[in-house]
Amino acid sequence: MAGRRSLLSPAALDDYIRDHTRAPDTVERAQHAATAELGGVATMRIDHEQAVLTTLLTQLAAPAVAVEVGTFTGASAMAIARGLPPDATLHCFDRSVDWTDVAQDFWEQAGVADRIRLHLGPADQGLAELPDEPHVGLAFIDADKPGYVGYHDAIVPRLVPGGLLLVDNVLWSGDVVDPEVDDDDTRAIRAYNDHAADDDRLEGVILPIGDGLFVLRRTDD
Ligand SMILES: C[S@@+](CC[C@H](N)C(=O)[O-])C[C@H]1O[C@@H](n2cnc3c(N)ncnc32)[C@H](O)[C@@H]1O
Repeated sequence: MAGRRSLLSPAALDDYIRDHTRAPDTVERAQHAATAELGGVATMRIDHEQAVLTTLLTQLAAPAVAVEVGTFTGASAMAIARGLPPDATLHCFDRSVDWTDVAQDFWEQAGVADRIRLHLGPADQGLAELPDEPHVGLAFIDADKPGYVGYHDAIVPRLVPGGLLLVDNVLWSGDVVDPEVDDDDTRAIRAYNDHAADDDRLEGVILPIGDGLFVLRRTDD
């Protein structure tokens, strides 16, 4: 999931990158610690460097409406919300009450709760209820991997021209290029990457940050 390490950079380079990236603030550190207490699932959280990049991209996109699929304990939503212009809204879709309860606590502490609307339940159903027209300036996908193509197909027609789509875990710890790996999630990620790369409405690039982040921009209008 989000925290799977792709082993794309040696530990010394990870440390160097961290030393040259804005440090996490008190709320982000506390959110990280609270998530770590959940045990192994904590690896699903995006790391700090990806959070910084997410805030920067949100500031550049300046969306009036943003969408997140897969919220967990709220790290990526907090990163998006911190980059939103005034009066913008972030719609978060997740089916876990327990994990998003943690998220809401930290959104309050970060002073961004008023910008976030949490939709609990299956993300495909929630996305289908969004207005069926281009209005989303930035979207982030980070939920169940077999759902990625469906989430993409629900979101892309709703992206405004120039809108950004960010998709997490697309290198899947490097398993996408390992011919020995053929499980459901890996096949789903490979199929998604082919789907995104073939989508003529978008142009994009995979960044080797975290577990691989596909950054796509809607170019048609
Ligand atoms: C990788 S975690 C998200 C991590 C989060 N973006 C962060 O940075 O902390 C995936 C989340 O997707 C949610 N999820 C998985 N399948 C889902 C579905 N079909 N509908 C809604 N939420 C789903 C899980 O409950 C989990 O919180």
